Amino acid sequence: MMDWPFDRATSLDPATYLQSLGRILATFDASIQDSGNVSFALEAADRRWFVKTAGDPQSAGAPLPHPARVNLLLNARDMALAARHPVLPGFHGLIETAWGPGLIYDWVAGQVLGGPLARKEDPEGPFQRFRRLPPHTLSATLGQVIDLHRRLADAGWVACDFYDGTLMYDFDQDRIWVIDLDLYRRGAFTNEMGRMFGSTRFMAPEEFERGARIDEQTTVFNLGRAISVFMGDATLDPGTFRGAGHEYETMIRACEPDRASRFPGIAEMAASWSPGG
Ligand SMILES: Nc1ncnc2c1ncn2[C@@H]1O[C@H](COP(=O)(O)OP(=O)(O)O)[C@@H](O)[C@H]1O
Ligand SMILES: [Mg+2]
Repeated sequence: MMDWPFDRATSLDPATYLQSLGRILATFDASIQDSGNVSFALEAADRRWFVKTAGDPQSAGAPLPHPARVNLLLNARDMALAARHPVLPGFHGLIETAWGPGLIYDWVAGQVLGGPLARKEDPEGPFQRFRRLPPHTLSATLGQVIDLHRRLADAGWVACDFYDGTLMYDFDQDRIWVIDLDLYRRGAFTNEMGRMFGSTRFMAPEEFERGARIDEQTTVFNLGRAISVFMGDATLDPGTFRGAGHEYETMIRACEPDRASRFPGIAEMAASWSPGG
């Protein structure tokens, strides 16, 4: 798992260092996303890597300052070490650069499902293509995403900012990847923000309510919303839902505004989604 064959410490900035190891195939920076993080697809030692950094400490304009972004990367490192799963790109530890830490992951093929509205409405874009997959493929794929969250919940991790931008789908291999879980938290916590980070369509009522508890049942709701977005029309309308009856019932119970009516945890939700599985 930790088979990064190069030095893990350099006084160089990440781009200069990575160029010395191989070829940078792509850079993900402020021109693509607004996190302030800067990531690289690297081809080196006959394979592809994804290297995620908190960006240049001197750059301005990101929603969080550099030290806070570094802390989120270290949080993602802790999570990657605590829970492995087939839908998570392999993790190969940290490097230290002039910009601070870089997380080393396997580079994975696929297209991010989320993005600007125009991209999501494009019939040939990944979001709509994914929604048109055969129901049994969607069912199995979302089952894997639920299973990941069951594994994370077992290790004590609660979802935060889970949405379609967290999902990459490889239409050639028919497989899902889950990326960018940097905001997930260890253990239940209190909403101190009011409206929290996230995409409204995926968020539970408690994620809008300062003082509310955010826990595994919040994750249940987030997953229920994903089912509704991808297998329905983002409502709970049974007429547009493409899955089986027990899958519809799973979505409904996961999306209960009143948490006491939801599944008590992800394990129960997973059992309802895949009975006998
Ligand atoms: N393991 C990976 N392999 C290939 N591409 C990836 C991988 N992880 C992320 N990406 C791509 O890089 C982009 C930025 O990564 P992400 O983790 O979302 O960073 P940020 O915190 O800046 O949002 C993603 O939207 C996706 O296109
Ligand atoms: Mg992202």
